[in-house]
Amino acid sequence: MQSTYFKEQTALDSSSCQLEKLLQNTLIARQENQWVDQDTITKAKHQLQKNGWVLLRGFYHDLAAFSALVSHFCSKLTFDPAREFTNDTAQKVDAGTQAIGLHIENGNTPFPPDLVAFYSRKSALVGSQTTLCDGQQIFNAMPSHLLSLFENNMVVSRTLPEALWKRYVANEHPLIDDPEQVTQQRLQELMGMLPGQTGTVNDQGELYYRLCFSPILVNSQSGQRAFANAILGPSFNYQAPNYEFEDGQQLDEHTKSEIAVLAEQCTLELAWQDGDMVLIDNTRVMHGRRAIEGDPSERQLVIAMGSH
Ligand SMILES: [Fe+2]
Repeated sequence: MQSTYFKEQTALDSSSCQLEKLLQNTLIARQENQWVDQDTITKAKHQLQKNGWVLLRGFYHDLAAFSALVSHFCSKLTFDPAREFTNDTAQKVDAGTQAIGLHIENGNTPFPPDLVAFYSRKSALVGSQTTLCDGQQIFNAMPSHLLSLFENNMVVSRTLPEALWKRYVANEHPLIDDPEQVTQQRLQELMGMLPGQTGTVNDQGELYYRLCFSPILVNSQSGQRAFANAILGPSFNYQAPNYEFEDGQQLDEHTKSEIAVLAEQCTLELAWQDGDMVLIDNTRVMHGRRAIEGDPSERQLVIAMGSH
C-alpha cells in the first residue's frame, strides 16, 4: 500500500504561523500523480476530524478522481442549483471576481451539507486564494457580549426566483428529482421536514421564506461548538438575505463588522496549485475567497458537497 507524508508547501504570503497550520493540514503525494489510496483516505479523515479541513496535493487528479475522493466522505450529495452542473457530483465555482466573505456552504438553506470539497483544475498565478476559517477558533475567542448574542437562534429570510427554489426542492425532496414535479404539496412537505421554516409563493411564482437556524453549531462527536454560518457570506446568486435574531432584533452592521474582524484573525489563505483537492467540515470551518486578480479564466475551481 502506498502512503503519504506531511511536507512543507509553498505559501508566498503566509506568516510562519499560517504556514505551520497549512502544512499541518496538507497531505502530499509521495510520488507524482500518485492515486489517492486507502491510506490517504484514512489520514484525510483523521485530519478532517482533528482540524476541520485537509488539503491533498500532488495526487493524480481529474473530475472523476475528485468525485471518487468526495464519495469516500459523503453518502448523500447536495447541489447548489444556481451553479453550472459539470458531472454527477461536482459543479464549477462561478461567482464573479470580487472577494467572497466567509460562510458555510448553503448556510442559508434548510439542509447545509456536512462536507464541502474543492478541486483546482487550473490555478490562478496570483490572487483568488480560498480563505479558511475555523469556527471553533472564533467561538473560543468571542467576547462575552458577542457570545450571549449569538447563543440565540437567528432567522434568515429572502425571496427566491421560481426556477431556483423548484430545483432545490426537486433535489432535496426524497420522492422527486425533477423541478416539473414540484407542487405546493411537495414544497410544504419539504418545509415540514425541518421545524422553523415557513414559505409562501407569490403571484410571480417567487418563494418568500423564513428559516430559523443556530449561528453556533455543535459537533455531534466532540461536543465542541463553532461559529459556523453564512451571515458574512455572499449573495451573488440570490437576493441578499435579511438576518435577525429570534426576538426580532436585526443583526446590525456594527455587530457584523465585529464578527468579521474576529473571523479575519482566525483566517488562513490557501494559494492553490493545479490539482489541489481540499475537503472541509462544513459544520465547523467557513470558507471564502480573496478577490480574483487578472484573467478569471486562468482559474478553474470545481466544488462538490454532500452529507454523511
Ligand atoms: Fe462557498
